[in-house]
Amino acid sequence: MRIDFHSFVILAPAVTMTLGATYQRSSQLAGQSFLDAFSFQAIPDPTNGRVTYVNETDYTTTLSSSDPGRNSFRIESNIQYETHVAIFDIAHMPQGCGTWPAILGANWPNEGEVDIVEGVNDQTPNTCSLHTGSNCTMPSSRPMTGSDRSSSLQVFAPLMVPTATHTDNGNSGCGVSINDDKSYGPQFNSNGGGWYAIERSSRLSDSVPSDINSPGSSINTSNWGTPAAYFPDTDCDFSTHFGEHNIIINLTFCGDWAGSSSVYAASGCPSTCVDYVDDNPSAFENAYFEFNSLNIYQ
Ligand SMILES: *[C@@H]1O[C@H](CO)[C@@H](O)[C@H](O)[C@H]1NC(C)=O
Ligand SMILES: *[C@@H]1O[C@H](CO)[C@@H](O)[C@H](O)[C@H]1NC(C)=O
Ligand SMILES: *[C@@H]1O[C@H](CO)[C@@H](O)[C@H](O)[C@H]1NC(C)=O
Ligand SMILES: *[C@@H]1O[C@H](CO)[C@@H](O)[C@H](O)[C@H]1NC(C)=O
Repeated sequence: MRIDFHSFVILAPAVTMTLGATYQRSSQLAGQSFLDAFSFQAIPDPTNGRVTYVNETDYTTTLSSSDPGRNSFRIESNIQYETHVAIFDIAHMPQGCGTWPAILGANWPNEGEVDIVEGVNDQTPNTCSLHTGSNCTMPSSRPMTGSDRSSSLQVFAPLMVPTATHTDNGNSGCGVSINDDKSYGPQFNSNGGGWYAIERSSRLSDSVPSDINSPGSSINTSNWGTPAAYFPDTDCDFSTHFGEHNIIINLTFCGDWAGSSSVYAASGCPSTCVDYVDDNPSAFENAYFEFNSLNIYQ
């Protein structure tokens, strides 16, 4: 099994590579059909954010310290996926100091997590990460355009308890920095958005072409070029570390990563994270995702 991320933040994919396979479209989601394929999850935030999960971001209310947190959203796909390709056509992603958005695959807490888009406080570039139980490592050298965020072998530290944080080194998972500053935040948005595609596959084979910007009824990932992030199973038994995943799209504020005092200050953001989120509702007017479409192939 392998997991590839392809981020096409500019409209120019295409390099040849020998990996890849063909898939048939199983879902073509946009507008109402996109919403129908997901459920809102009004749950406590596992990352301890200054957030209340309802169904949309509140950018008008000034909060007092006794309020439970700024309203935001967390949605989970109704279907779970194992081998699949998902192409996210993203027009806009949340931006602003204090924001921590994510698009990921997971089946919390025991089936691993694949973070496709994740970042905090407008800091670019995007980071793709895996989180699993122990005894799962990635080779330091592998065919991808992004950069391993740690030297030599990466260890997938346990991230199997709901209280786990991303700031603890032991839980930071296996991250790859996408080699493009337009891959995240305001720079992604001002560039007009872009595409993220994940291929989660159980086989290696060659196959043929496909268009990302007008996804058809079938695709052949062979012509997508070198992935931005590549996670092979050479040093990790994927069958025991990953199960079927829901697609989750969430936006928290502050919390264990975005709100960590050192991370928040290093982002050049004003005040403290929680005070900023409480006192500046209009700063969150752009804290939204807009998806043109989501096409899923299996
Ligand atoms: C969120 O829920 C509220 C209250 O049920 C409703 O008025 C509002 O239209 C909903 N917004 C979205 C985006 O679904
Ligand atoms: C989104 O949800 C996943 C699964 O519960 C969690 O691991 C991740 O930290 C959350 N991210 C944010 C930004 O809320
Ligand atoms: C997929 O694309 C590759 C590279 O162009 C090609 O060799 C292969 O035959 C294609 N597979 C199918 C099923 O069309
Ligand atoms: C760790 O994983 C390898 C396969 O990747 C397996 O052979 C080995 O038994 C595992 N070790 C433990 C302690 O589970």
